[in-house]
Amino acid sequence: MAHVLSDVLSAAEARALFEAAAALPFEDGAKTAGRLAKRVKDNQQAADGTDTQAVLARLERALLAHPVFGALAYPKSFAKLLVSRTEGGGQYGAHVDNALMNGARTDLSFTLFLTPPEDYVGGELVIMDGLEDRAVKLGQGELILYPSDSLHRVEPVTEGARLVIVGWVQSFVSDPRAREILFDLWTAASVAEAAEDFAQVQRISKARSNLLRMWAV
Ligand code: NI
Repeated sequence: MAHVLSDVLSAAEARALFEAAAALPFEDGAKTAGRLAKRVKDNQQAADGTDTQAVLARLERALLAHPVFGALAYPKSFAKLLVSRTEGGGQYGAHVDNALMNGARTDLSFTLFLTPPEDYVGGELVIMDGLEDRAVKLGQGELILYPSDSLHRVEPVTEGARLVIVGWVQSFVSDPRAREILFDLWTAASVAEAAEDFAQVQRISKARSNLLRMWAV
């Protein structure tokens, strides 16, 4: 299941991150694509360096501090993050992300949209889940988190430039069904807490903690 997180960054933080990312040096994105993905990938990504690392670290910190991200992803590590720029008709055709990156398994993928959507045409992230294609184009600073096992693509950017940060998470809980059960319990505990039903919160939290103990690897 895909989830949109709209408040990973404040509006001011998102704008600052956009400006910092736009100032980075970029290189051809095909460099980091797998053999099959290379044929369909036409974008650029920020070259590795201190400034790029600083931009990516800001997002990592914000994600690790975000309670809903934690409840959805149970992050064990970030397999990889990168700043991606697409412009001049560039796109990223249908592909599935590599299962392993930098020695970590990719369980969840995310895209943080940095360019305000009114500043470019095209560039939707399309998640192809078999039944229908879902096209997603989010506001500045909004993030979509989705399971890494899906085919997806990025539509051609015909005007302006699309700047995003994409990343992959290895989760303590590799099974998406198990993560969904844990997230439902987390949500139920939050609802009970809002209703000040603390006995209920304790019960639900106990079930969630003990399932996590059974499933975490
Ligand atoms: Ni991808």
